[in-house]
Parts: sequence; C-alpha cells; structure tokens
Amino acid sequence: MRTQVVIIGSGPSGLLLGELLKGAGIETIILDRVGKDYILGRVRAGVLEEGTVGLLREAGAAARMDREGLPHDGFSLAFDGRDHRIDLHGLTGKRVMVYGQTEVTADLIQRREASGALTIYEAADVTPHAFETSSPYVTFEKDGSTHRIDCDFIAGCDGYHGASRRAVPREALKTFERVYPFGWLGILADVPPVSDELIYANHPRGFALCSMRSQTRSRYYIQCALDEKVEDWSDDRFYDELRRRLPAEHAESMVTGPSFEKSIAPLRSFVAEPMRFGSLFLVGDAAHIVPPTGAKGLNLAASDVHYLFEGLRDLYLEQSATALNAYSVRALKRVWGAVRFSWSMTMLMHRFPDAGDFGQKIQEAELDYLVHSQSASTALAENYVGLPY
Ligand code: APR
Ligand code: PHB
Repeated sequence: MRTQVVIIGSGPSGLLLGELLKGAGIETIILDRVGKDYILGRVRAGVLEEGTVGLLREAGAAARMDREGLPHDGFSLAFDGRDHRIDLHGLTGKRVMVYGQTEVTADLIQRREASGALTIYEAADVTPHAFETSSPYVTFEKDGSTHRIDCDFIAGCDGYHGASRRAVPREALKTFERVYPFGWLGILADVPPVSDELIYANHPRGFALCSMRSQTRSRYYIQCALDEKVEDWSDDRFYDELRRRLPAEHAESMVTGPSFEKSIAPLRSFVAEPMRFGSLFLVGDAAHIVPPTGAKGLNLAASDVHYLFEGLRDLYLEQSATALNAYSVRALKRVWGAVRFSWSMTMLMHRFPDAGDFGQKIQEAELDYLVHSQSASTALAENYVGLPY
C-alpha cells in the first residue's frame, strides 16, 4: 500500500489532521490499535477554544457542535465560601464552546467515513520505519499477517502511550515531567448542571469542578488521593463530598442523580522535545500531556494539528518547506504556554499534601488578587480562552 501521509492514531489529533489534509487534496491512511467503539466510548474534557472551534469548522466537522454546543462567556472561581465570575468575553472579546471531546471525535469519524477515506482499526504492532529518510514506511499486523504502507510522512497522533514517540532513539529526545500527588475522581450524570457556567472551586478539603455536557448532563470532579478506589465512591458519597467543597448556594441547589460513568484520572505535565524527527512528526498527547485544570489537552492537540497542516499543505501545494521546517519550534512555543498555564492553575486550585494551612491561605490570597485585579483577571482569561496561534 502507499499513501502520502500515514496517521498513527484515530483520536482527535489524527482525525482532525486527516480531515484538514483531505480538504487540501492530500491523501492519508489512519491506523489505530483499538476499534471504533472503544474510541467512541472514551470520556474526556469538554471545553473548546475559539481556535479549535475554527479548525473544526475548517474541517467541515462543526455542524452538530454549532447546533448543540454551549457557548460560554465566563466561568466561576469559588473559594472562601463565595463565587467570583471571570468574564471571559468582557475581558478578552472571546468565548469558549462547551462540547464534549467524545462528540468531537464522533463528528470527525463520521466525516471521514462519509468521504470513504481509509481507517484501519485494530492494527497491532504499528511501527514507523526509516523516518530519518524521505521514504519512510509503517508496518502493522492485522488478520494474521504483516502489512506495509509506504508514504512521504508519518504523523504520530497516537497519544501518550503510543508507538511513535517510542520509535525515536532515546538520545534524540528530551523529556520534561511533573507528576502531581493527587487525581481527579469524575462522574457523568443526566442531571441539570448546578450552574449555567463552569465552577472551579478551591476548598481546604480539595479542588472541585462543576462542568457539563449539555443542559441536562453534568460532569463533576473532585480532587482525590491517588490510592482511592472508584468502588469506594458511591454516588451519594461523591455528591456529599462535592457539596462540601462548593459555596452554600450551589450545594443547596444541586440536583443529584445516578452517575453512568465514574473514573479516576492521575494528573501530570509532560513534554517531549523536539516534535519532529526527519519524516516523523509527533502531534497532541504523543508529545505532551497537561493536567486537565484549564482543559488545554484537546486544544493543544488542535494547535499542533494546525501547524502541521499548514506545513504539509505549503509543501504539497506550493513546494515550500518553510512552515514544515518550523513545525516543532512553533508547536512547542504554544505547548509551553499551555503547560505553564495548566501547571499554574493546578497549583492554585488544589490542596497539596504538605502545603498545610499556610499553603491554603496563600492560595486564597492569590485567588482574591486574581478576581479583584482587572489585569490579573485578564491574564487568566486570555490563557483560558486560548493564546493565539
Ligand atoms: N498504534 C496505533 N494506535 C495507537 C497506538 C499504537 N501503538 N497507541 C495508541 N494509539 C491510538 C489510541 O487508541 C487512540 O485512539 O492513538 C489514539 C490517540 O488518541 P488520544 O489519546 O485521544 O490522543 P490525541 O488524539 O492526541 O488527543 C489529544 O485527547 O487525551 C486527550 O487530553 C487529551 O484532549 C487531549 C486529546
Ligand atoms: C470537563 O468538562 O470534563 C472539563 C472541563 C474543564 C476542565 C476539565 C474538564 O478544566
């Protein structure tokens, strides 16, 4: 088999890249280790920056998001028993779109299927080869035999645990990592959200987040210890703990109901540099992970895709390699901006095991400054709605 670009990974990075390239007449094959149902069952964050929304429109995959997504003009920071609104639109002129990543993925898969472009699911042992040359190829196992796809470029969109980053010689890669000493226990439930906008709460018992997927579906999280077990958290115990961490007005008005998803996610910051090795490009979670505080994961994947798409389009359509050669530097600049922001929001909002009451007071003083200083609120809002590409 032969194609122009092999995309490893059918998550949002790989799918969005595939749609944008298709629009420019560039052919791709997508390979994924798992099946479509598994991909569509993954629950992830749900806040899209305007840049991400624009790329989904450019990819022709925005119709349902534009119908069903919830544009949000602000969010709340709750601490010391009170709510403080950050007026995203008033401070930056921009807003965010609340629309689940699972839905984004479903919309992109539907577009790809409608066009007849090839996706190979349940491909085992996917391996990039010869990417130090201009004739790379990818091999994989499927239905008992080994297959080979020759190509011009390989896009490694296969997430943190994927094969692409692992194929790069260790000495060619520099990695940076911070692991946080807690996780997020999250639930999805068909109950109306406690507020029209998201609430990020700092509380001496730990962080809490009230998010949503629609007017009738809520996504709630509480900070928990890393050794907590999901089985130990009944819905009642979860809601009791969530209520304790919220200002009284929300705790009292919260509608509760059975959850249909409950899981614990660890929090980490991770970056691998550079993001290009010859004909192999790392994109999205394959190159970097951010903690979910601030919802930057999918949005960063989208900006990587934007830079790589521009590079490949200029090369194929205008025979210019300038943008492609700048991919790693351009992508990493924005990556570090978002890594810094998610790290700082994580540090500000969570209870750290050895920070003590002093740490709590310092966080509350910083939050108080943030919500009362227009320049500090603007800096927060600019980062939340997304730094420019
Ligand atoms: N071979 C082939 N496919 C693989 C392999 C492999 N060895 N390893 C992983 N994959 C596939 C996974 O099955 C998954 O479908 O690659 C895809 C990677 O998708 P994501 O993990 O969703 O990564 P990405 O597309 O970069 O999306 C970034 O997702 O995790 C969130 O916070 C993150 O929101 C961000 C977004
Ligand atoms: C979510 O809706 O799942 C979500 C929202 C905002 C975040 C993280 C997760 O910062």
